[in-house]
Amino acid sequence: MNNAELYHRSNILQKRDALQCLEEYGKRIKWKNGRTKIIDIGCGDGSVTMSILRKFIPNSYERLVGCDISENMIQFANEHHASDHTSFMVLDIEGDLPNELRGNFDHAFSFYALHWIKHQEVAFTNIYDLLSEGGDCFLVFLGHIPVFDIYRALSRSTRWNFWLKDVDRFVSPYHDCQDPEKEVKRMMTSIGFTSVEVECLKKSFVYSSLDAVKRAVTAINPFKLPKDLEEDFLLDYINVLRDMHVIDHANNNIDGPIKVEFNYNLIIAYGRK
Ligand SMILES: C[S@@+](CC[C@H](N)C(=O)[O-])C[C@H]1O[C@@H](n2cnc3c(N)ncnc32)[C@H](O)[C@@H]1O
Repeated sequence: MNNAELYHRSNILQKRDALQCLEEYGKRIKWKNGRTKIIDIGCGDGSVTMSILRKFIPNSYERLVGCDISENMIQFANEHHASDHTSFMVLDIEGDLPNELRGNFDHAFSFYALHWIKHQEVAFTNIYDLLSEGGDCFLVFLGHIPVFDIYRALSRSTRWNFWLKDVDRFVSPYHDCQDPEKEVKRMMTSIGFTSVEVECLKKSFVYSSLDAVKRAVTAINPFKLPKDLEEDFLLDYINVLRDMHVIDHANNNIDGPIKVEFNYNLIIAYGRK
């Protein structure tokens, strides 16, 4: 998850979803006039910030800041995507917010990051505190996705039990949630957000090779595995996918083309301060 170079090459799904969400739901954003400041939380390698989010921001903006807990990601983002108006900084959105950032941003965004956060109220309160009066946030994060069931299945095996012992730390807080829309809306409203709108979308993504699946799994793998076990981990991961019937072989031909289809829920949350 810390490997910016690998993430950069394997985040096709995340890019597709950021683009689709902004195209379909971006009309909700009440862009302020003039020299605005914008923050992208959990920006990772910075490619979504610059190649997707940037295109939706009115040209008069003053500053676009990407932030992430990972120093590696921020270093990569600054090396590849920084410009006169854009920079990247280390920030833990679940930690203590530096005073100078409070009320500093007119618009906050986050794509594919907030499901990593255990203390959701802390992170959402920090997002509220980052915003200026009248500012708003547009947040996209995962609800239910088979990836978390695969982690759990592997964590129950004697082989992976040790390495995946803190599995629940990395499962989305909304993976098992019956009504994530209601839960997120309640939390945001209780923090003070107004005009809150939350949708849980049913999405699907198809990988057409096991190598593509392996690259995507490696790019977001949160577990610290020894290098020499990584390939075995991926093989067992693929075996669980087979058991879950996520892998389809065309015409039942085991050597023919394959289709690996992930069906998952994506949560889009909007709120204003
Ligand atoms: C899957 S990546 C998404 C990156 C990018 N937003 C995208 O859509 O491609 C999730 C990112 O969230 C970051 N992250 C996880 N916990 C975080 C936290 N507490 N504060 C800030 N960033 C965090 C990770 O370091 C990682 O770079």
